[in-house]
Amino acid sequence: MTELEAERRARYQATVVQDFLRTAAAGGDPYAGILLVPDDPYPLYDEIRARGTLDRSAVGAWTTTSHRVANQILRDRRFGVRRADGTKAPEFMPFDNSMLGLDPPDHSRLRKLATPSLNPRRLTHWQPHVERFTDELLDEMLAGRDRVNFMRSFAQQLPLRVIGDLVGIPPRHRRLFFRLSRRMAYLLDGVATVAAAQDAMAAITEMTVMFHDIVAERRADPQDDLISDLLPAVDDGRLTMDELVPLCMFLPLAGTETTVNLIGNGLLALLGHPEQWQMLVADPSLAPAVVRETLRFDTPVQQYRRIAHTDIELEGRLVAAGEEVAICAGGANRDPEVYADPGRFDITRDPGPENLSFSAGIHFCLGAALARMEAEIALAAIAARVPDIRRAGPVRRRGSFIVRGMLQFPVSLR
Ligand code: HEM
Repeated sequence: MTELEAERRARYQATVVQDFLRTAAAGGDPYAGILLVPDDPYPLYDEIRARGTLDRSAVGAWTTTSHRVANQILRDRRFGVRRADGTKAPEFMPFDNSMLGLDPPDHSRLRKLATPSLNPRRLTHWQPHVERFTDELLDEMLAGRDRVNFMRSFAQQLPLRVIGDLVGIPPRHRRLFFRLSRRMAYLLDGVATVAAAQDAMAAITEMTVMFHDIVAERRADPQDDLISDLLPAVDDGRLTMDELVPLCMFLPLAGTETTVNLIGNGLLALLGHPEQWQMLVADPSLAPAVVRETLRFDTPVQQYRRIAHTDIELEGRLVAAGEEVAICAGGANRDPEVYADPGRFDITRDPGPENLSFSAGIHFCLGAALARMEAEIALAAIAARVPDIRRAGPVRRRGSFIVRGMLQFPVSLR
């Protein structure tokens, strides 16, 4: 098949999928409606909830918006992220060897190796870096025009700079690293065309070459970063090079696009509730409460999936071996059984149980503490230095049912 034929076939398939989703959504299937990426998916989560704690969508997947059931599935070892025979479900990410795409025992081994570099104690080391990057970015933003796209001027920049330091990307590779990371970011949204898939794969290939180069450099001259931390494990056989490089590449993706949108969604919610913005301006120590409420109210990772490894009876239904469950974290975080008046953004609310924005169980986000720290420092600094910031026009959302965030968020600064 020529490239043009492949492109045409992919477009045709995408159209067929869209038509199918539209028909299913029009027929009353709320999950199909979510896959069509509406600007506001939250009413559709309520519709799923009204159908029960575990519901089978016309698209084939089981769905849950119940905080209790989602928690139970995420902690149940009879569910995995791969099929029971170890093969990958086709729509999962192309990082075969990243820990998020592996079940135990490989998952446990990789996670154990990466954990020390990201544990909360180690984060005290990164805190001054985050504060410095935040101040530099605000200096740059305030030195420019009165009206900016907050996503481009600030939110997209901070997590990339932090992860660049944490992973150990030398300064001369930074520009390339930033460019390739942004090209790879679209993988999280699902790639619609052959050209987009080819571009993302080309970015991965370039990134792989770059990381082999950096690993060689760190071997000769270890530094205080993740690559240097992991090299002894490669030398004594606990980790292969085929695993080290995907791990290094996965972190920018897992740790950037998510945190970008936590910062963006947090500021959007605050500016939409000016009295709560004023509370943060008056008292920056509210930043942790703001971040926790943003994660619950407008979670950056709206859903993730699990596959049953065996027939499982759950909530009076039978989930057969090989079937998938979409854990709708965006819906579970607004479960009225757990959070009072869940559609209200309220930084003063009683936090209640841990929300599911960072998942739960063995895949609980390894970067949760770092992400929280970045967003807390960023939002507190904006409140202190740009107290008059206001929304200055309509936002443009990122077209993804997984990553919820914005591409354009116009704000005026003064
Ligand atoms: C607001 C920011 C973030 C959000 C909402 C988020 C969300 C998530 C979620 C939902 C998962 C698990 C998905 C599943 O169970 O299938 C996950 C896993 C993961 N995240 Fe995050 N994440 C964020 C930031 C970060 C950062 C900053 C890093 C690293 C620097 C990171 C590294 C990881 C890793 C390594 C995993 C895989 C853990 C495993 O499979 O054991 N994340 N994240």
